[in-house]
Amino acid sequence: MYDNLFTPFPLAHGVTAPNRIVMGPMTLNQATESGHITPWIVEWYRRRAAGGVGAIVGAAVFVAQNGRGWPNAVGIADNSYTEGWRECVEAAHASGALFGPQLFHGGASSHESLLGHQPLSSSEWKRGDFDQARAMTGGEIEQTIQDFADGARRSIEAGCDFVELHGAHSYLLHQFWRGDVNHRTDKWGELTAFPAAVTKAVREAIGPNVPLLYRFSVHSDDPSAADNPVTPDSLAEFLHALEAAGVDVWDISCWHESRRGYFGTDIWLPDWVAKFSDKPRLVAGNFLTPDNASDYVATGHAEAVALARALISDAEWASKAHRGDEEAIRPYDQAHWKAITTGIDPGAA
Ligand SMILES: Cc1cc2nc3c(=O)[nH]c(=O)nc-3n(C[C@H](O)[C@H](O)[C@H](O)COP(=O)(O)O)c2cc1C
Repeated sequence: MYDNLFTPFPLAHGVTAPNRIVMGPMTLNQATESGHITPWIVEWYRRRAAGGVGAIVGAAVFVAQNGRGWPNAVGIADNSYTEGWRECVEAAHASGALFGPQLFHGGASSHESLLGHQPLSSSEWKRGDFDQARAMTGGEIEQTIQDFADGARRSIEAGCDFVELHGAHSYLLHQFWRGDVNHRTDKWGELTAFPAAVTKAVREAIGPNVPLLYRFSVHSDDPSAADNPVTPDSLAEFLHALEAAGVDVWDISCWHESRRGYFGTDIWLPDWVAKFSDKPRLVAGNFLTPDNASDYVATGHAEAVALARALISDAEWASKAHRGDEEAIRPYDQAHWKAITTGIDPGAA
């Protein structure tokens, strides 16, 4: 059943996932206090791979201590983290799924109590309930680019099949792209400069043959909004700059809105992306049923789907869909997300 989801998904450079159902990145706060992988996390990934997903994007993983976003979230900030990731990779490979991390820096989306110092960002910025961030110095920016590259190198040392950059959801990479946040007057004030520099450095670190995914989201797309919204032109510029720097696959984060028009039109975001780039599109956003996911790919809006909440609730979502047993899929319930915080895996059989 849903045969179109169960054809191979070629990412790039001859690396192919066995199907088009990807487990999207999910931060679960089940790491040690220092951000090292625990047996719980390895088991969490092992179950989803055994449950039939074609690839797993590991949760947002901080590349530097000053990029931490949450307590007990995973890291890859020095070599002591590598072995844990190797176990995750092996757990995925045991069932034939690809595995790669989502390299992350929280920037302003953090707290002094977690970092031990003021959060950093492209410019001074206070995001919601997070602490006031200060602008990074040029030297800190160069160091952070190196931190992303080092995180990517460690990922490859751990055996990962691909690497994703977390450029979405108003974390550091996005804080440089957002015209309402980045007010710098140096070369990093050019909105694509930092995302492109990180992408280029990561590409150099992983070499030419490892697929590089980039997750992005659009903070605002209403042409009449006052917050310097993204426009079709600025999206095109962004995609072209990152593609030139080495991105192979777009991971387009639509939150729960993968089926709405952007930029005041009725054209969905992945279709805007396809106007400017030929790269494969992995799309995230409210794919809770096999019907919905299969239809999205069948109608040409994505080459693959990234599922998050559906896989919290049922680790076997993909294999149940494949055998046409969608009635047996445990539907997502917000209580399942909460259960994780108590150490329960709600998706286990
Ligand atoms: C518990 C949880 C943790 C998440 N953590 C991340 C994350 O670390 N990185 C990220 O890019 N998105 C994260 N997301 C967003 C998801 O990857 C996904 O884009 C979003 O939930 C929409 O997909 P869904 O409708 O399938 O849940 C998280 C979502 C959930 C539910």
